[in-house]
Amino acid sequence: MLDAFGQPQSAVVLGGTSDLAGAIVRALAHRRLRTAVLGGRNEERLALAARAASAEGVREVRTVQLDATDVAGAARAVDECFDAAGSVDLVLVAIGVLSHERDELDPARTAEVVTATYSWPAVALTRAAAHLRDQGSGRIVVLSSVAAVRVRRQNFVYASAKSGLDSFSIGLREALHGTGVVVQIVRPGRVPTKMTEGLPRAPLSTTPDAVANAVVAGLASDTPIVWVPASARWALAAARLVPQSLWRRIPG
Ligand SMILES: NC(=O)c1ccc[n+]([C@@H]2O[C@H](COP(=O)([O-])OP(=O)(O)OC[C@H]3O[C@@H](n4cnc5c(N)ncnc54)[C@H](OP(=O)(O)O)[C@@H]3O)[C@@H](O)[C@H]2O)c1
Repeated sequence: MLDAFGQPQSAVVLGGTSDLAGAIVRALAHRRLRTAVLGGRNEERLALAARAASAEGVREVRTVQLDATDVAGAARAVDECFDAAGSVDLVLVAIGVLSHERDELDPARTAEVVTATYSWPAVALTRAAAHLRDQGSGRIVVLSSVAAVRVRRQNFVYASAKSGLDSFSIGLREALHGTGVVVQIVRPGRVPTKMTEGLPRAPLSTTPDAVANAVVAGLASDTPIVWVPASARWALAAARLVPQSLWRRIPG
């Protein structure tokens, strides 16, 4: 059960090996999180993430292997996670693959980025929403990105997929209104994690702990969109008005 501050006791993490998910699990463990099911593709990295969660005080940590390029297997993977968890207070969606300029002409890479960042999570969210509806309660937190708001040339394959997932999540939130299930969308700026290794600092950069704290604070309300840093909300509102000729010159 979520407590009065929206903090979960049990969570399913799709993308349990993600650095941001690790920071969020740590922050939740310092509140009330006692059971976590970590879903991911790599057994070794899952075992490491599970050990880290246990060390932070999560008493029961289970892992489920899943591959986010296998859209047909998404619902089954979510079912396995729910079976492993029992009752679920929170579903965190952290899977994503960043694209780069060098990926633009590679159809296989486009397929991987779009599938793992949008199609698989959308199908998984649909299934998770059905489970939570049956329970009559629960939160879904989706890691979107500021990149979803205005697409940039440097990573447009990823950004377009995030845009799709962001819109899907907003629609799902509306569809679940009144059911006891609440969807929240988190839009971080650039964060130093293994996804962004080697990339320079960009405007609106933030940290894993700042994202985790914002998620915890977001859970205490039912705010639809959590921006990290908070100032990104206004920066991106202004960015929508910037002409493309100027937008393409902004570094990052
Ligand atoms: N870092 C940023 O600047 C930033 C900013 C805004 C939003 N985000 C979003 O935050 C989320 C977490 O990203 P992160 O920064 O923590 O990066 P990360 O550590 O690279 O996390 C990405 C996650 O996606 C998983 N993944 C990728 N392809 C997969 C596949 N085919 N099957 C299963 N899992 C797969 C990765 O698994 P492996 O560990 O096995 O690779 C990892 O758990 C992502 O959705 C990302 O788009 C990140």
